[in-house]
Amino acid sequence: MRTFPKGFLWSASTSAYQVEGAAYEGGKTASIVDNNINPTYADTTITSDHYHRWEEDVELMHELGLTAYRFSISWPRILPDGHTINPEGIAFYRKLIDKLEAYNIEPMVTLYHFDLPQCLQDAYGGWRSRQVVDDFERFVRVVFDAFGNDVKIWFTINEQSNLFALPYLMVFNDVENKQFQKYQMNHHMMLAHAKAVELCKQRFPHSKIGPAIGVSPHYPASMDPLDVLAAQHADDFFTYFFTDLYVHGTYHPKIQNYLDSIGIRLDIRDEDATLLQRGKPDFIALNYYISKAARYCSSDSSYREIQVNAIGENGLSVTERLPGYYEIVDNPTVPTNPWGWVIDPVGLRIQLNQIYNRYRLPIMITENGLGIVEELNEQMSVDDHERIKYINDHLAQCRLAIEDGVELLGYSPWSLLDVLSTTSGFRKRYGFIYVDRTDHESKTLNRYKKKSFYWYSRVIHSNGEIIDID
Ligand code: BG6
Repeated sequence: MRTFPKGFLWSASTSAYQVEGAAYEGGKTASIVDNNINPTYADTTITSDHYHRWEEDVELMHELGLTAYRFSISWPRILPDGHTINPEGIAFYRKLIDKLEAYNIEPMVTLYHFDLPQCLQDAYGGWRSRQVVDDFERFVRVVFDAFGNDVKIWFTINEQSNLFALPYLMVFNDVENKQFQKYQMNHHMMLAHAKAVELCKQRFPHSKIGPAIGVSPHYPASMDPLDVLAAQHADDFFTYFFTDLYVHGTYHPKIQNYLDSIGIRLDIRDEDATLLQRGKPDFIALNYYISKAARYCSSDSSYREIQVNAIGENGLSVTERLPGYYEIVDNPTVPTNPWGWVIDPVGLRIQLNQIYNRYRLPIMITENGLGIVEELNEQMSVDDHERIKYINDHLAQCRLAIEDGVELLGYSPWSLLDVLSTTSGFRKRYGFIYVDRTDHESKTLNRYKKKSFYWYSRVIHSNGEIIDID
């Protein structure tokens, strides 16, 4: 019988700015993501209204059968001015965690999901300044003091690799020396990650902590050795640059040489090396949505930044090009969703094997899911068979990866309920639960179970036995 290992964590994910709403209530102040989210769509003031409906949402998690729930704690809800504790913020997460525990749902907490307090951005440029590392440490200490005895699984930074590529989420679009700044911000984020890991190990040695990174395996566009090399370069720049720093605390030599070649000298201090070494995680968490393909790109071609399709059908998207290393290209062998995101379940097995073979650390899947346009039908539900197929096929590849030898701790798809999509508002829905609102009308905000809710519940109750693997 092809069930999943005993104790496998069956979860679902959200993040604070995408689900809570109440962006300026309960003592919370603005974060950089509140101020930089795509203005075409809904803003962060209401989102899924989880801040007011958290009890109902935990009841739904219980009915779904979740054994774990991944959410993030909002930094500006806990420390609205960056320094002073907001008791209302602590009380909100206290109630949530207590109720999760009452239902035996393991709370799994992300410490940073894109929401630096705006006041710290204004004070010193946010992640651009080394000061942010101390301020993040302060935030983590407060969170650990409040919830460290209850939460046993922590994620440090969500999708650092994508933040690095999407300037609007890190607020470095218009700064001078953009290339230098983005690598320097990344260095500060690595230090912040390491501080959180170090603190967790000192104070809660039985808890587990690791980064949640956004990953895509890169396939060569052809058998041409130059394309194969390009795919290897892309893996190094998009994945191993980050994971080597997390796990070994050292800069990938290829990226170091690249930085030297373009004259970027980062402010890396002697004590940083020691701290980074102490940041070795207990596991690596992966957010997997898509695979990518890469082809050779000559040194005399021009540099190109990614542009994400935020509209869906017919929207613009532009792929990355790094002269001398790689150009990301379309892969005609795999289907895509309306936003052009490829649907490639086998890519997940490939990625799990690659990461596990390189680091031999347990892996958790913290995001994976299908974003589509959806409406309630007359039965007040949504027939999301496409999502069922998507998740079935990805779980089948997880099961096969476990047979390959990968130590997989759990699966936490995106998302528990419809939330504000980072790029495309409520137009792009991912949830097992429909939230009655659109981008421009907040409507009833009532919750309706989609077909996938009942299906995922059966998956969980059978410990994955009903997954169709063949
Ligand atoms: C990840 C993020 O990038 O992917 C989530 O951690 C995000 O915050 C999810 O919502 C899906 O992306 P999008 O843009 O489709 O919402």
